[in-house]
Amino acid sequence: MEHLEGKVAFVTGAASGIGLGIAQALAAAGCRVMLCDIEEAALETARAALAATNADVAAVRADVSLKAELQAAADATMARFGKVHVLVNNAGVGGGGDYGAWTQASWDWTIGVNLMSVVWGIEIFGPLIEASGEGGQIVSTASIAGLWAGVNPSYNVTKYGVVGLSEGLRTSLAPLGIGVSVLCPGFIRTAIMESTRNLPSRFGVVEGMTDGAEDGEFAKMARDAIAHGIDPRYVGELVREGIEGDWPYIVTDTEFEPAIDARFANIKAAFDRIRDRVPAR
Ligand SMILES: NC(=O)c1ccc[n+]([C@@H]2O[C@H](COP(=O)([O-])OP(=O)(O)OC[C@H]3O[C@@H](n4cnc5c(N)ncnc54)[C@H](O)[C@@H]3O)[C@@H](O)[C@H]2O)c1
Repeated sequence: MEHLEGKVAFVTGAASGIGLGIAQALAAAGCRVMLCDIEEAALETARAALAATNADVAAVRADVSLKAELQAAADATMARFGKVHVLVNNAGVGGGGDYGAWTQASWDWTIGVNLMSVVWGIEIFGPLIEASGEGGQIVSTASIAGLWAGVNPSYNVTKYGVVGLSEGLRTSLAPLGIGVSVLCPGFIRTAIMESTRNLPSRFGVVEGMTDGAEDGEFAKMARDAIAHGIDPRYVGELVREGIEGDWPYIVTDTEFEPAIDARFANIKAAFDRIRDRVPAR
């Protein structure tokens, strides 16, 4: 989608971090933006700050893990802007911890917010983008953890899911004039380590997410890397460029490239191991 001026974008998780950075970058490029988030006060702060730059923005509160609330947010977007061209499925949470710290709640919450919201987002907004008759772009925020799995299995599962969903949909949506991009950030300076601030009570207690005091080794490293991470606004500008250029993958930095190379080499080695065998049929 080359020309963003005057186009309408719907961005989830837009009250903080990467989503806010994306909303700022799209608004600066002349998009009209509907900001969506579960955290009402932060959402209003973000909306007011963007409106003060003369951007045409509005805000709608929704828990994106609930399809009905996302549908209501889509209705509000159509009522306010009349059409929509860009969907950014960005809202996400840090997940429920490593092996040994799982609960039903930790899996349900992580899958609901990080993966099912992307499924619902595409199901609800895809036809609306089609109906604009002007093409569009769907960007979903996965993570570098969607290309290479460290610890925190429920998070990895959702992010691999978002990558798989996005890769597959590129083929189906291209003939409709809708590009599909997946954003795979490294460590970005956001509030992701405080994700339980937005844990809906219906999920119950999520183990494995701490306020820092009981962090394991990986969580300590991640907390520090995120505190010193990349500026979310920088990521927003990359996403704006990715939308304009219909990039299939948007990455933010090369820190994890060696780990991903090693993963690919490992997969390749699996084929090499059985290369000359004839499978029994
Ligand atoms: N920060 C990083 O290092 C990093 C790295 C890779 C991927 N990501 C991904 O980036 C995305 C954005 O996270 P962030 O790092 O900006 O964190 P953040 O906590 O600063 O922002 C996440 C936003 O999502 C919102 N949100 C949470 N649950 C919601 C729900 N149920 N419904 C609607 N909104 C909800 C929050 O209120 C918040 O505004 C997430 O998908 C995350 O997994 C982050």
